Amino acid sequence: KIIVLDFGSQYNQLITRRIREFGVFSELLSHRTTAEEIRKMNPKGIIFSGGPNSVYDDNAFRIDPEIYELGIPILGICYGMQLMTYNLGGKVEPADNREYGKAELDLLNAGSPLFKETPTKQTVWMSHGDLVTAIPTGFEKVATSKDCPIASIQDETRQFFGVQFHPEVNHSEYGNLLLRHFAFDICHCEGNWTMDNFIDMEVAKVREKVGDKKVLLALSGGVDSSVVGVLLQKAIGDQLTCIFVDHGLLRKNEGDQVMEMLGGKFGLNIIRVDAQDRFLNKLAGVSDPEVKRKIIGNEFVYVFDDEATKLKGIDFLAQGTLYTDVIESGTETAQTIKSHHNVGGLPEDMQFELIEPLNTLFKDEVRALGTQLGMPDSIVWRQPFPGPGLGIRVLGEITAEKLEIVRESDAILREEIVNAGLDRDVWQYFTVLPGIRSVGVMGDGRTYDYTVGIRAVTSIDGMTADFARIPWDVLQKISVRIVNEVAHVNRIVYDITSKPPATVEWE
Ligand code: XMP
Repeated sequence: KIIVLDFGSQYNQLITRRIREFGVFSELLSHRTTAEEIRKMNPKGIIFSGGPNSVYDDNAFRIDPEIYELGIPILGICYGMQLMTYNLGGKVEPADNREYGKAELDLLNAGSPLFKETPTKQTVWMSHGDLVTAIPTGFEKVATSKDCPIASIQDETRQFFGVQFHPEVNHSEYGNLLLRHFAFDICHCEGNWTMDNFIDMEVAKVREKVGDKKVLLALSGGVDSSVVGVLLQKAIGDQLTCIFVDHGLLRKNEGDQVMEMLGGKFGLNIIRVDAQDRFLNKLAGVSDPEVKRKIIGNEFVYVFDDEATKLKGIDFLAQGTLYTDVIESGTETAQTIKSHHNVGGLPEDMQFELIEPLNTLFKDEVRALGTQLGMPDSIVWRQPFPGPGLGIRVLGEITAEKLEIVRESDAILREEIVNAGLDRDVWQYFTVLPGIRSVGVMGDGRTYDYTVGIRAVTSIDGMTADFARIPWDVLQKISVRIVNEVAHVNRIVYDITSKPPATVEWE
């Protein structure tokens, strides 16, 4: 494996991910990891990530200098290269201009193992304020660019390499190849790591950590918590108890499906809490979206607490935290939350230790893991669904009748999108109930009923989105079915705004 030491770059998680794509296990570790700890892990290579600091800052991230004595190849990226330079006797200075964006790199040493088989001129992605101005003894200059005279360095004897640009981002033309060269030609990794190895590794880790103690998991039916559930079931079987809070804001049949699939097929030990009335009562008369969100979130914690308190002798709480959830704070936080921590408003006297088996993975890797665990596409490829559920798709005040309209119309929409083979192309699709009523005519009579909105978007991460171009005939089928099959609906509209200016959800 190759370890990446974290100096706080926003791209650091991408580095480990690129390397895992080569079939080489990679994980991000704190820059505080000592040489002794690294020696025990026996990695084939070490990467120093980029970071926002200057090596001269008082609070700049440092490393254990013994790491340079381990005899393990090191690649320093951006701040990582500057730190290596600084530690090994070179010089780093502030650049006249902060360089950000694409730059043209000139290769000076075509024989460098890092740049093997790449052209002498190539586009790279730069993002830095400091520059290496003098290289340490034993190193040579490998590449240069207009604003960065020393853009890459190497010491082939010690197998130390540095690049000022970011090979992990797609804008660096040959960046991926460069990381490949580091992994295979320099570190001699084998490239036979798969999700199966990940499962074995995590199962072993969890068994060792948990021993014969008990673990609690809040199951939502979403991809992440479901995958954690199945993975833990494999590791510790009935030492795992899951609590599934059905707040009545789930989609049609969703609760039953969770029970059938995870409880039935996968044999998870699930306590289903039917809390529909409790949530509806709390939400009665409330129409402000943010207040609704808060009520649903808080109530969820109260219900979970009530159930968890009834269970005795639980030491661990499992969570489906992903890599992307921890990047902001980097591995520093990941380390602090590993100690005893009070999660999401749990009672003071309930202290759990956290288990977060997915916190090194990206969403698509979690999906691959789920598939590898034998989970069906219906769970693994489930579209994103907000925590407050249908509660924010009934605009304004929530009533049982309105929930029913959204739930039924949404089920029809989903069925037809799947029938049309569009479910993997459209990122998220659902219906909303704006609460307006309008005049219609059905049979010979006048109607005065609800309008249902269809929202369907394409997106990568939900941050920005465009409305999906669903074919007219598919929309027509959906419209006809909803009006015919769902009581009190006489009009269907299609939301054709992107995000921004709109949002994906209507509340
Ligand atoms: P918006 O509406 O902000 O949605 O464009 C972006 C993505 O986030 C989801 N979303 C939520 N998820 N709790 C959640 O867990 C929420 O309160 C919430 N609001 C929006 C939304 O479904 C979309 O995927």
